[in-house]
Amino acid sequence: MHILVTGGAGFIGSHTVVELLNQDHEVTIVDNFYNSSPKVLDAIKEITQKQFRFHLVDVSNQEQIIELFENNEFDAVIHFAGYKAVGESVSKPLSYYFNNVTSTIHLAQACVDYGVNKFVFSSSATVYGDNNVPFKEDMELLPTTNPYGETKAMSERVLMDAVKAHPDLGVSLLRYFNPVGAHPSGLIGEVPTGVPNNLMPYISQVASGQREKLFVFGNDYETTDGTGVRDYIHVVDLAKGHVAALEHLNAGTHIYNLGSGKGTSVLELVHSFEKVNDIKIPYDIVKRRDGDIAISYADASKAKNELDWETKLTIDDMCEDTWRFESKRVTKRDI
Ligand code: UFG
Repeated sequence: MHILVTGGAGFIGSHTVVELLNQDHEVTIVDNFYNSSPKVLDAIKEITQKQFRFHLVDVSNQEQIIELFENNEFDAVIHFAGYKAVGESVSKPLSYYFNNVTSTIHLAQACVDYGVNKFVFSSSATVYGDNNVPFKEDMELLPTTNPYGETKAMSERVLMDAVKAHPDLGVSLLRYFNPVGAHPSGLIGEVPTGVPNNLMPYISQVASGQREKLFVFGNDYETTDGTGVRDYIHVVDLAKGHVAALEHLNAGTHIYNLGSGKGTSVLELVHSFEKVNDIKIPYDIVKRRDGDIAISYADASKAKNELDWETKLTIDDMCEDTWRFESKRVTKRDI
């Protein structure tokens, strides 16, 4: 298949491109490097030893999307490009709604106009809000606590309605739990801008000495050790989930949780990182972070049954691969 990957230089996008190329798919990446670097493209080539096309495109710009579809014949679109910082979405809601929702509309419109019948969308477990765990695909969605989450829920809605009106279209909505880790080559991984919002990048920056200590947001939740519980998923497993979703995609809307089905607390993740990498992570317990829920983990059975996909990599693998990437990056400072 010839697959258009938007945001293909980003964290999850780049890992997915690697898996697509490994499966001999033809790939066109578009990215505007808002939150990524052109060097990632070289790293993908180094890992796969394969070629792909690249265009500098802003997916919120409809003219650029039309030109892209006019000049290429795609079989499928995987749409990753988007703003993703939860906190920033609260201070810049209009940018988030504009960028994330209009890009989905433009791409869906182009798919309809140019007869591209496969669309895989990068959604998030955040659409479940504070539901009871485990989160299941058919649960009623609860409001999320931030505009970023709302842009994911709205984009899902847009795509579901597009399928109702265009029954040949096949849409897969992939609800990611907490993606972490990096490619085992150490060549691609997550590069946060500024102070990391998410736990694993923060831990790895403490490990590399860029930050003095971790702040654990609350130890008074109703969980095993009082700290927040999440379903962490290795980005390579997540990337393979996209390939599985694409290869099984037929007409209609299909929703899948991509998670491990297991919850891990903040302190369990810290201790695993310390153990596998033999590095101490100093931390302080501070108050809860606004908008956080106590526990989030997937019921991952639908993806296993229908896509024949499940996570294979462990929390220890995630910690080891994160640190391999971060330690190389800090030494070379090149991505
Ligand atoms: N945490 C800390 N200290 C930190 C950062 C996080 O203690 O410095 C804790 C949080 O309180 C939470 C856990 O670590 O209990 C995980 O927090 P993350 O910020 O890594 O992840 P979230 O679950 O809050 O958010 C992630 C993605 C969002 C997405 C959401 C969907 O970052 O984009 O999952 O469930 F919307």
